[in-house]
Amino acid sequence: MSRSVPPPLVSLVPDTAPFTIEQRAWLNGFFAGLVSLDGAGVTALSAEQSAALMPGAANPFGDADTGEAPWHDQTIVLAERMKLAEGRPLRRKMMAAMAQQDCGQCGYNCEDYSNLIFTKQEERLNLCVPGGKETARMLKALYEDLGKAPAAAKAIEPAAKSAPASSVPSRDNPAVGTFLSRTRLNGAASEKTTWHIEIDLAGAGIDYTVGDAFGLFPMNDPALADAVLAALDAPPDFPIGGRTLREVLIDGVSLSPAPDMLFQLYSYLTGGARRLKAKALAAGEDPDGDAATLDVLAAIEKFGGIRPDPEAFIEALDPLQPRLYSIASSPKVTPGRVALTVDTVRYPVGRRDRLGVASTFLGERIAPNTPLKVYVQPAHAFGLPADPATPIIMIGPGTGVAPFRAFLHERMATKASGRNWLFFGHQRSSCDFFYEDEFAAMKQKGVLTRLSLAWSRDGAEKFYVQDRMREVGRDLWAWLADGAHVYVCGDAKRMA
Ligand SMILES: Cc1cc2nc3c(=O)[nH]c(=O)nc-3n(C[C@H](O)[C@H](O)[C@H](O)COP(=O)(O)OP(=O)(O)OC[C@H]3O[C@@H](n4cnc5c(N)ncnc54)[C@H](O)[C@@H]3O)c2cc1C
Ligand SMILES: NC(=O)c1ccc[n+]([C@@H]2O[C@H](COP(=O)([O-])OP(=O)(O)OC[C@H]3O[C@@H](n4cnc5c(N)ncnc54)[C@H](OP(=O)(O)O)[C@@H]3O)[C@@H](O)[C@H]2O)c1
Repeated sequence: MSRSVPPPLVSLVPDTAPFTIEQRAWLNGFFAGLVSLDGAGVTALSAEQSAALMPGAANPFGDADTGEAPWHDQTIVLAERMKLAEGRPLRRKMMAAMAQQDCGQCGYNCEDYSNLIFTKQEERLNLCVPGGKETARMLKALYEDLGKAPAAAKAIEPAAKSAPASSVPSRDNPAVGTFLSRTRLNGAASEKTTWHIEIDLAGAGIDYTVGDAFGLFPMNDPALADAVLAALDAPPDFPIGGRTLREVLIDGVSLSPAPDMLFQLYSYLTGGARRLKAKALAAGEDPDGDAATLDVLAAIEKFGGIRPDPEAFIEALDPLQPRLYSIASSPKVTPGRVALTVDTVRYPVGRRDRLGVASTFLGERIAPNTPLKVYVQPAHAFGLPADPATPIIMIGPGTGVAPFRAFLHERMATKASGRNWLFFGHQRSSCDFFYEDEFAAMKQKGVLTRLSLAWSRDGAEKFYVQDRMREVGRDLWAWLADGAHVYVCGDAKRMA
């Protein structure tokens, strides 16, 4: 998600503090990064960090890096990003290893996550969801170099460890919400299955602002957990840390891409050609050309006949991560509730359908009135303009419309006088027009000043939101000249 107008500067350093304008700007940015996002960031600095922040110090990491990050572009492949980071300090190489989406799924942005790994305030190296195994592997290799890093790097003590736990619900300290309902947004003829989801937050102690994302902890499909148990030939009630093996397989570990550690475990338990194969897979190689299709169940089946100890098996898996969704509601319209717009991920690999964990959990498995662990991830520079008279242009095809439904609800509730223009698009007008009635009512009320649509599969040729924008370029230009803010949201790979 991005917008065209630079965010307002956050001022955390008093104007009277003895710094130059540049130093104050840098410090404000640094502190904003640390205290931002979901509260999982650092909230207190150690004496060493404070000292390193005094005027004259290069930066709190003890290096003289310029801060420039030419690799910070999600379209550049990892190898190329690492090349761009050659000769730069280790923490900058760590940043280059991230997927550069600043998506917040790890709980930070790419730069903060790498800096916190470097200062050992964050020990988990596998949190970059879009970077996947590739990023985790690179981070692991760089982390091994950390022991050899110059002393200045190690002088920064982990402040987060000694800071008292925040009471604000966050990724590391989630609240409990209640799943209320799901309503399908597409017609029966659609190729997609997209749900409007409602979650009750009463008593959860969660506040949010339109533009924020909502984090939730999903559960794996119990049928997949049972298939894993059967393939392992392990008893479902095998005790693991006070719980059963089946329970841990459902809500504790990721059953998606098989992690390197699992192949490493198999390499210890077998010999000959299979051992070499397991070792190669653990090193990120692809001896049989099937590595990309190996989820945990497929990996167990590939090494069929080997029976790892259930406890060692669980230790070899990655923890199940939360997922983020753009909030599609305004707290001013539905206080104590949050709405999401969720597209179901489901695709076949061989004879088995692979299910997106969280999207199918919300869309197919969780029953109404079931509690679930949730938190809000505050947005950075993705919110309504401070001045309610400022016009806004929102570009959100598919589920990218979610935050803009929230924006429109908020502008309606606050009676904001600014004009609102929404570009929405999807596959077919007959079955993929999400929130059609709501948007029609908003148009009638004058809240939605303009609604421009683009249907990619209605005609013989693809027609996308950007094609519609080109058609109305003159009007768009006029809105921009009037100071309109522009927002874009959607699939980060293809559309954004
Ligand atoms: C800030 C933010 C906001 C978001 N907002 C929304 C939103 O409003 N609505 C929404 O629906 N999503 C949103 N997402 C995406 C969402 O977080 C999840 O990534 C998405 O729902 C998939 O999660 P999952 O657990 O269902 O799938 P996972 O179990 O994570 O599986 C997804 C993975 O499956 C693989 N995959 C998917 N399709 C295929 C295929 N055809 N072939 C091969 N492999 C495939 C890919 O590796 C993909 O990464 C948002 C993400 C972020 C970071
Ligand atoms: N990271 C995020 O912030 C975020 C937000 C929302 C959704 N997502 C994820 O993105 C995935 C996409 O699902 P979705 O429901 O939003 O629908 P989608 O599959 O992205 O499709 C929405 C519309 O965009 C069109 N489109 C495809 N490529 C485009 C391009 N390059 N430029 C402009 N339009 C393009 C599609 O056309 P055709 O398919 O006909 O080509 C379709 O008409 C989901 O899995 C969801 O989880 C991520």
